[in-house]
Amino acid sequence: MLLDSKLPDVGTSIFTVMTQLATECGAINLAQGFPDFDPPATLTEALARHAGTSGQHQYAPMAGLPRLRELISQKTAAQYGVPAPDPATEITVTSGATEALYAVLAATVRPGDEVLILEPAYDLYGPVVRLQGGRPVYVPLLLPDFRPDWDQVAAALTPRTRLIMLNSPHNPSGALLTANDFDTLAGLLVNTDTLVLSDEVYEHMVFDGQPHRSVLQHPALAARAFVLSSFGKTYHATGWKVGYCIAPPALTAELRRVHQFLTFSVNTPAQQALADVLATADLYHALPAFYQAKRDLFVGLLAGIGFELLPTAGAYFLLARYVALAPHESDVAFAQRLTREAGVAVVPVSAFYHDGRDEGLIRFCFAKRDETLQEAAARLQQFQKSQLRS
Ligand SMILES: Cc1ncc(COP(=O)(O)O)c(C=O)c1O
Repeated sequence: MLLDSKLPDVGTSIFTVMTQLATECGAINLAQGFPDFDPPATLTEALARHAGTSGQHQYAPMAGLPRLRELISQKTAAQYGVPAPDPATEITVTSGATEALYAVLAATVRPGDEVLILEPAYDLYGPVVRLQGGRPVYVPLLLPDFRPDWDQVAAALTPRTRLIMLNSPHNPSGALLTANDFDTLAGLLVNTDTLVLSDEVYEHMVFDGQPHRSVLQHPALAARAFVLSSFGKTYHATGWKVGYCIAPPALTAELRRVHQFLTFSVNTPAQQALADVLATADLYHALPAFYQAKRDLFVGLLAGIGFELLPTAGAYFLLARYVALAPHESDVAFAQRLTREAGVAVVPVSAFYHDGRDEGLIRFCFAKRDETLQEAAARLQQFQKSQLRS
């Protein structure tokens, strides 16, 4: 039986495709954004403890364990210097930020609504808007800094704009939004009903002494925003799929209407373990220095290999222009060849554009052990030599 696809143009995500190719070729996988090291031992030990305890194996409360939500509230207030969000009415634990993204879009977007997406963008945003009958309206970020062009955003806003999606630190570029950006956006949204979805899953990965600016710190935007975070990113535990959404009570109520039918609740032992770690240690304070050291190591290792590296201020990605190595090759072809011939898998940045716009950029993920980054760089060096010979 043939099914008329709701997303006929959507295939398997590029991250999965490149990861499969990496496995087939025995390549080092710098494509998909996950660490090749374990979460902190305190966290895995806490999980083992809770998973091995009687009474921890049934549904958690729909909105998340109260203890975990209370700790998220305290952490948020301490980190951003904002009033503590109410755990009862403003915080919802979700199955990763992915579920929160889906639930927010399902709760807010109606057929015919427009959603502004700044591109390049995480590949989920556009298709999930379309599944709700919404129309993604894409506004390109300005290269090479991946800054929003607020004039273009202003021009794209219409009375149908239900939502604007923000992502800072930004995947794939690592660019950060600033307090000025938030002021500008807030000015544009005055007297509109447009909501904000702020994807801040990389909130703890910011470099060179810069702070992460959260939409929560901007009262006018926070009043109309869903702000997302991911414990998967913060604790090197992407496979646990635990994230959360902070939003004012009226927005949270709508989010929960969907969440209760989408996953209902998030696995109990993982929530307990995360609560234990949040209660006892501020492990995430070490993250900026930890990932900055990896960025600097990898940037140093790649020097002289023929890539033009773009600066990265946050998240755990590094963009590279490869024109000197392959002047006429598309980014998809180059990424695939790099995987096969160099044994290093990367993501072509065109995958982050709805129309496959090719800027001649690939994305490396540097959330890897130092040995992995060293081995990847050695392979890339060999590849460069082979290019020069051929
Ligand atoms: C920008 C962005 N948003 C959301 C997610 C999904 O987060 P989670 O793994 O918590 O579902 C990712 C994961 O790569 C991401 O890069």
